[in-house]
Amino acid sequence: MQKEIILSPLQGYTDYVYRNVYASCFPYIDSFITPFLACENDGTIRKSKRKDISAENNSVVKPIAQILPGTVDETKILCQLLIENNYTELNLNIGCPFPPVVNKGRGCGLLTHPEQVDKILRSIFNNFSGKVSVKTRTGLNNHNELYKIIPILHAYPISEIIIHARYGKQLYKGSSDVNEFLKYKDLIQIPLVYNGDIDNHNYLEFTANKLKETKKIAIGRGILQDPFLPARIKGIAILNEKQQFINFITCLHREYLDHTETPKHAHTKLILLWEYMSAYLKPELKAAKKIRKTTNLTTYNETIKSLIKEHYRISDPFGS
Ligand SMILES: Cc1cc2nc3c(=O)[nH]c(=O)nc-3n(C[C@H](O)[C@H](O)[C@H](O)COP(=O)(O)O)c2cc1C
Repeated sequence: MQKEIILSPLQGYTDYVYRNVYASCFPYIDSFITPFLACENDGTIRKSKRKDISAENNSVVKPIAQILPGTVDETKILCQLLIENNYTELNLNIGCPFPPVVNKGRGCGLLTHPEQVDKILRSIFNNFSGKVSVKTRTGLNNHNELYKIIPILHAYPISEIIIHARYGKQLYKGSSDVNEFLKYKDLIQIPLVYNGDIDNHNYLEFTANKLKETKKIAIGRGILQDPFLPARIKGIAILNEKQQFINFITCLHREYLDHTETPKHAHTKLILLWEYMSAYLKPELKAAKKIRKTTNLTTYNETIKSLIKEHYRISDPFGS
């Protein structure tokens, strides 16, 4: 079965620059979800968050906008922002496990309050006329808390539910449990999307074996680590991978420079991405460490050139 692949949101990484560059370089991902939008304490939404979902910054690929409300009032504010920006699809985050988020009754914090999930969903469907999907974990304290939410989810015309098969208290420890996902698949009547730990080393085990019957998957870190992973999963031939990878990182460089206030900001963004992207290069090159040590775009460029040269054994990777 040919899988459909969603880029799972990664706050701080898969911003509009990354999404646009990815989509203009590669045709491998079916849909993109933005990192979450949330309200500040006074009900406002940060400028950087508005920028990430604005129409002008999302002309290459229209993403699905993700919201992280904890109350009905926040839900209304976030839906209004999406309507103003002509969004026709939103994703409700009830899975974020970070303690500051959970303590505010958002993300995974909602999984122990079914009545609040109900109020938030009712408000979404009253205020937003587009498609609505949900992204969640299996619970906050254990894998069973999602069970209590199922009747509520079934009461609304939700298009699909993405399940990261960890519970919140695990944060990112242990592994995402496919069997827990499959248990929910038997109980939930809404199409389910699997998420968690699919990467370049294990994708065959997941796609050909554990998730053979699952049509749609969401991948976050695995795509940052290897931008060709969705093509490998779909069995799409990758022509001239070396040159495509070089184009991709060149384009990321150029676009971050264009879309950040100073070269220093662009440099900070790029070295952050390489914390994951370095996995694409040979481990012995210790790429992440070398890139992190660079202090500006000039030394960054020199380091990237020499890493690519060593990885691909080519004399002049950027042809300059
Ligand atoms: C740094 C970081 C930021 C994340 N930001 C978000 C987010 O904004 N919204 C969300 O639903 N999930 C977020 N996630 C969770 C991922 O989307 C995904 O569910 C999780 O990483 C498991 O999938 P993966 O193993 O394919 O990365 C984040 C994860 C990480 C590591």
